[in-house]
Amino acid sequence: MSRRTDTMTLDPLNLLQRPRRNRKHPAIRAFVRETTLAPEHFIYPLFIHAGDDDVPIASMPGCARLSRRGLLAEVEAARAVGVNLVALFPAVAESLKTSDGREAWNPNGLIPETIKALKDRWPDLVIVTDVALDPYNSDGHDGIVAPDGRILNDETVAALCNQALCQARAGADIVAPSDMMDGRVQALREALDGEDFIDVSILAYTAKYASAFYGPFRDALDSAPKSGDKKTYQMDPANAREALREAELDEVEGADILMVKPAGPYLDILAALRRATNLPLAAYQVSGEYAMLKAASERGWLDEKRVVLESLLGIRRAGADVIFTYFARQAAEWLTGARK
Ligand code: PBG
Repeated sequence: MSRRTDTMTLDPLNLLQRPRRNRKHPAIRAFVRETTLAPEHFIYPLFIHAGDDDVPIASMPGCARLSRRGLLAEVEAARAVGVNLVALFPAVAESLKTSDGREAWNPNGLIPETIKALKDRWPDLVIVTDVALDPYNSDGHDGIVAPDGRILNDETVAALCNQALCQARAGADIVAPSDMMDGRVQALREALDGEDFIDVSILAYTAKYASAFYGPFRDALDSAPKSGDKKTYQMDPANAREALREAELDEVEGADILMVKPAGPYLDILAALRRATNLPLAAYQVSGEYAMLKAASERGWLDEKRVVLESLLGIRRAGADVIFTYFARQAAEWLTGARK
């Protein structure tokens, strides 16, 4: 059979399957679309501090350590476009940091006071709190550091229970242990239930990797480890099966939601967990992922709106029900048409 190569008169190929037919019209593309992205899929991480001013974070353009006033304004703007889930991360004064991180369960601390202020204003706002000692720990680690440098697991878990109870008493809806200590989900569940906080959810950072993509976050909170790294508790980026093991444990220990973190470089882990569990999944598009997209967009190298929405859609497609993202407000504004 000879085919003429003149494109104007070419005989059609004998194809039964032409996938492009399902892409030929926007209305067809709309109903074959498998994944959705909407403001209700976002949890908005916000940095707070005790100061009166909003202090911009150099490596995270558009983000700041927010004052109480700045926080209320930001939450109001986010709610206006349908983002009603926020996660709070405190920048704590150096003078309050100790080796046992006890400021983490000070009932008059920054986090409990902020939760109360937010709930006063918006009783229906859903507040997620981070359970880990790094913002409060003079060593900059998520756990308690022994004199020989080891991170003490069981002692840390006891401290995390104090911290989560303090958050629950102030009104937190979801506590999110990001520390990666063994057994913390079960211990938190028992501690919460022991005080009748049976409706406080646990969102477990199940597969949290020892990632270089957390750099800007540690700048934001001044929370980088003073010595050593986090490799004895956070996971090795080389490992996938280990994430399934962590997922099984968090599930039997009573987690309500499992999380993978970071998101973009770990979509395979997210997809594997999606197949392995019936629990809802979260993913954290971390500070470094945000910084990359912001930096390239600021230089005009990428189209910010399109790459941000594509990155979030990819995370949803891989299996995330909900995404922690510093783009939450901005993306929701794009999705609702409030921003061009
Ligand atoms: C620490 C914590 C970290 C992040 C969330 N909780 C940093 C770390 O583990 O060092 C990182 C979030 C981000 O990079 O956006 N408990």
